[in-house]
Amino acid sequence: MKDAARAAELFRLLHEASRRYYGTENPTLADAEYDRLLRELVELESAHPELRRPDSPTQRVGSPPVAGFAAAAHAAPMLSLENARDEGEFTAFAARCGTDADALDWCLEPKLDGVSISLTYMNGVLVRAATRGDGETGEDVTANARTIRSLPLRLEASDRALPAQLEIRGEVFVNNTDFERFNDARTEDEGRFMNPRNFASGSLRQLDPKLTAARPLRIALYTLVDAARHGFSSQWQTLEQLQRWGLPVEIDHCRRMHGTAGVRARFAELAAARDTLPFEIDGMVVKLDSFRLQEELGFRSRTPRWAVAWKFPPREEATDLLGIEVSVGRTGTLTPVAVLKPVMLGGVTVASATLHNAEEIARLDARVGDRVIVQRAGDVIPKITQVLRELRKEPLPPFRMPERCPSCGTAVVQDTDEVALRCPNAACPAQRQARIFHFASVDAMDIRGLGEKLVEQLVAEGLVKTPADLFRLQPATLETLERMGSRSAEKLVQTIAAAKTRELSRLLFALGIRHVGAVVAENIARHCGSVDALRVATQEQLEAIPGVGEVVAASVVAWMSDSGNQRLLDELTAAGVQPPAPRSARQSARLAGHTVVVTGTLAGLDRRAAEELLQQQGAKVTGSVSAKTSFVLAGAEAGSKRTKAEALGVAVLDLETLQAWLAGGPSPLCKPAP
Ligand code: IVH
Repeated sequence: MKDAARAAELFRLLHEASRRYYGTENPTLADAEYDRLLRELVELESAHPELRRPDSPTQRVGSPPVAGFAAAAHAAPMLSLENARDEGEFTAFAARCGTDADALDWCLEPKLDGVSISLTYMNGVLVRAATRGDGETGEDVTANARTIRSLPLRLEASDRALPAQLEIRGEVFVNNTDFERFNDARTEDEGRFMNPRNFASGSLRQLDPKLTAARPLRIALYTLVDAARHGFSSQWQTLEQLQRWGLPVEIDHCRRMHGTAGVRARFAELAAARDTLPFEIDGMVVKLDSFRLQEELGFRSRTPRWAVAWKFPPREEATDLLGIEVSVGRTGTLTPVAVLKPVMLGGVTVASATLHNAEEIARLDARVGDRVIVQRAGDVIPKITQVLRELRKEPLPPFRMPERCPSCGTAVVQDTDEVALRCPNAACPAQRQARIFHFASVDAMDIRGLGEKLVEQLVAEGLVKTPADLFRLQPATLETLERMGSRSAEKLVQTIAAAKTRELSRLLFALGIRHVGAVVAENIARHCGSVDALRVATQEQLEAIPGVGEVVAASVVAWMSDSGNQRLLDELTAAGVQPPAPRSARQSARLAGHTVVVTGTLAGLDRRAAEELLQQQGAKVTGSVSAKTSFVLAGAEAGSKRTKAEALGVAVLDLETLQAWLAGGPSPLCKPAP
């Protein structure tokens, strides 16, 4: 029976793709391909319902909406954890666990900031998913949980016999980038989610599973109910087995430690890594590893005696909005900045927060004098997430953006299609200052010692108007500045001179071209190789560079064609700024980010070898030409693909040109016009 075989194959492909998508291996299927195969399986199953397995990937989407949630009683209550807010509280907890806490083994897990869930597997198949509810009874959210792609609907076989019934608990959560992306796509009416936890909880409790399916939820498991009865002796051993059954476990972030010194060290390590993790964690869960010892200690009414949630310092706090200042950026954009009564957030003192623009202030309805919630997640700039309006004791006047630039007094303008107000005066001291400060910053020309205060003085004294002026500074002139001795003047001039040979990518980023961030600058620099090539690069040539789209390319071309900017480049060159030719060390993955199509007969190289060569260099090889294709590698008798490439303006290279490029020559995709 052909259909059954195809269904089985689709099942296998989709299952494997899903596993890899959420695992650490490279994905096997592109998203579009996954969707296509999934649709095929949906169709097969609706034509032959007998082929539909309960653990089919199709069961993750499109189940009919449920009316409310059925109650789901928990066989064993879902408990919570006692908190330790500092080291002292952790030490007290450890002391309660045994006379010699340093002789015990501890299982340390990240405390994921999501919603807890309980899963039941019968003979390896997921049959129920329930929220915690009041701990005794939760809500049956099986249809919704099935839509979480990283959750296996069927457990994998391992060398350990699978118990007929298993109850496994864990956390449903969302990655920070997925959360931000989802929030950014929300309309004003839909509103934004306050934090990843609200998002996870709201998404899991949608009445229509289709809505849950559209949410980028993830799951991690950490508890096997009755693990000792199933023959396990420790938490660590259990985590490893959960993973072998194919369940997602954040094992890379878990540790087993002997003694409390190790626990303390790991806490410090995890706290330091917090900002680099892809998801929010609000602490570290410390569990006594041995189930025998856990059992001896037992439970209080709602919490186990053998575990504690050692919390990180909070990243969200209420404080007073003391004022709103308006700063002028290097492109003249006016940005309102909240002046806050200083608060500790995640271990650092925060006294200001960005308010983005007037629209954001209106959306929050933030007024000077309000009590506000400030949040600092990861290494991002602190932001106000909420205004506690009900605490407003008296009417406060709404904030209004200034009509004149706070630096130079020029009337501000608003560009069409832009929310932001802008000071149109390119000679505005605040803008000059911001441009020079950016030019000298660490990711740009990295001129250490040229801080904000100093730049402010240099601009105010009229000593520096453009970045090129920096290279003309003399120690004698600098010495006239406040707080500048002869030695530091000398040293600064040397530091500035050393920046003359910074890489092209840094210079390009330092110029402050709109939409050209450090990464894009790196790509452009690698492909263009020199300032001169950049100055004449066309829109098409730039668009052929990975990571460079229409907007970036247009921005670069516009910047390069401005006479003032051309003068700046001339002056920089005259001052001796000369980036070295791109380093050859970067040649190993020259084609990273490129999508390439091979066509025709290549002399001395068969198709497969050509594709391998391209892939080794980081390229993605595809079968059909589109506007997204970086270039077509064409041999003899290249037919329609070549024609299509030419029609689309996609570069067509021969093998010789490609080889010259890979051997270290200039990129043929971006060369000065003849
Ligand atoms: S163990 C009896 N482990 O934190 C043990 N909980 O404040 C109960 N949580 O409701 C839970 N990460 O939602 C445990 N690695 C982890 C956890 C974790 C996050 C959540 C869970 C629980 C809450 C307790």
